[in-house]
Amino acid sequence: MPNKLNKTKMKSLKVDIRKTAGFISEGAVYAFENQMIKNHEAVLNKTGKGNDFLGWVDLPSTIDESLLKSIASSAAKMQEKAELFVVIGIGGSYLGARAVIEALQDNFAALKTGRNKPFIIYAGQNIGEDYMSQLLSLLDKHDYALTVISKSGTTTEPAIAFRILKNHLEEKYGKKEAVERIIAITDQEKGALKKLADDEGYQTYVVPDDVGGRYSVLTPVGLLPIAVAGYDIRQLVQGAADMEGLNRKSARLNDNPMALYAATRNALYQSGKNVEILVNYLPNLYYLTEWWKQLYGESEGKENKGIFPAGVNFTTDLHSMGQYIQEGERMLFETVLSVEEPNTKMTIPSDGQNLDGLNYIAGKRIDEVNKMAELGTMLAHVDGGVPNIRLSLPGINEYYLGQLIYFFEMACALSGYTLDVNPFDQPGVEAYKKNMFALLGKPGFEKATEEIRKRL
Ligand code: PA5
Repeated sequence: MPNKLNKTKMKSLKVDIRKTAGFISEGAVYAFENQMIKNHEAVLNKTGKGNDFLGWVDLPSTIDESLLKSIASSAAKMQEKAELFVVIGIGGSYLGARAVIEALQDNFAALKTGRNKPFIIYAGQNIGEDYMSQLLSLLDKHDYALTVISKSGTTTEPAIAFRILKNHLEEKYGKKEAVERIIAITDQEKGALKKLADDEGYQTYVVPDDVGGRYSVLTPVGLLPIAVAGYDIRQLVQGAADMEGLNRKSARLNDNPMALYAATRNALYQSGKNVEILVNYLPNLYYLTEWWKQLYGESEGKENKGIFPAGVNFTTDLHSMGQYIQEGERMLFETVLSVEEPNTKMTIPSDGQNLDGLNYIAGKRIDEVNKMAELGTMLAHVDGGVPNIRLSLPGINEYYLGQLIYFFEMACALSGYTLDVNPFDQPGVEAYKKNMFALLGKPGFEKATEEIRKRL
C-alpha cells in the first residue's frame, strides 16, 4: 500500500459532458447507467470477458511495499551508473512509461546539461535501421544502462534491439559490468527473455500474469523507468489508488466519472460519432495521448466494432487538423484533456511600439491565452458539429497522472464491456506478425512463406 499523502486533500479529475447536449440527450447517456452498473460488477467481481486479465483493477491499493522499495533501490543503482537509460519495449511495454515521463519532464530536458538523473531514451519500439545505428553512435559516447521489457518475452522489435544493445554493452563495459547494467522485466516463468535473463543473471522484475501490456503502467513495466527518470512512483500509485477508491464506491453516473465518461462516449458512438479525438493543449501530453490511443484502440477495436481513437495537440494542430475537425465529415467527437494549472507562471510582456498589436494581452499569463484558445475552440467545434467531453485535471504531477491512468483504464473496461467485446485481448495484432514471419522465412512458417510469396 502506498504511503498516504500528507498534503491537504488533493483535488480530483472531473468530467463535464454539457457540450454534448446538442447532439445526444441526457436521457441517451443515462440510458447506459444500468449497463454501467452491470459492467462495473463484472469488472470488480471478475465475471466478465477476459476476467483473467483484471489484475490491474486493485493493483494500486494492493501494491506491495517491498516491490516499491526494490524498484526505488534498483532505480538509484541505475541513476549512479548511467547518464542515459534505454527502455527497450513496444506497445504496452513502452507507452505507459513514456507517457508519464514525458508529461513530467522538462520539454528541453534532452538539451539541458547538468541533469542529475539519467535521461530516458527508447528502443525496440520500431525497426528503423537508421534509428538503431544513430542510437548506437550516441551510446558510444555516454554511460548508459538499460531495461528490456516484454511480457511475452518473444516480441520481435524489442528482441532485435536487445540483441544489439546487449552486444554493445558487453563490448563497452565487459560482460560482468554489462550484467549490472541490465534489468529485464518479463513473465515470471515463460518466454525467451526470461530464459536469457536467468542464464545471464540479470536482475528481473515480473509482469503479473493477470495484467495485460496496456494496463501495466503501474507494474514494474512503467514504475521502473519512471523511477529511474527521478519521478515519485508512490505519488503516482497513490493517485491511482484514490481513483480506484472512488470507483469502488458506486457505478452511478453522478458519482463515478469513469462510468460517466464511458456512458457518454458510448451514447455518442450510438449516435454515429465513431471517431474520438483526444485533445491536449500542452506539448508534454503528446505521449499520454499515444498511450490512450493504444489503450482504447487495442481494447475496443475488434469484431468490427469500436470507436476509432485519434489524437491532436492543440493549438499546434489547430493549424493543420483544425480545418478537418471544423468542417470535414461529421463522425467526430472530442475529449479535451484540460489541465487547470500549469507548473510555472509566465506573463506576456508589454511593448512600447505594439507593432504586433499584442498589448491587449500584455500582462496576461500565457496559460490564460491557452485557456481562451481552448474555450474558443470548444465552442467553434461544437458549432461545427463536433460534440465535446471535457476532462479537467487539476495539474500535471505524479499524483494527478496516477488518477488519470486509472480513470482511463477503468473507463476503457466499462466501455469495452458495453460493446460486448473482450477489452483485454488483442487477437488482431497477430495478423501482421504472421505475415512478417512468413516473409522473413521463420522456421515453422514454411507453408505460409510459400503462400505469401505468391501474393506479392
Ligand atoms: O497491450 C498489449 O498487450 C500489447 O501492446 C503489448 O504490450 C505489446 O505487443 C508488447 O508485448 P510484449 O510485452 O509481450 O513484448
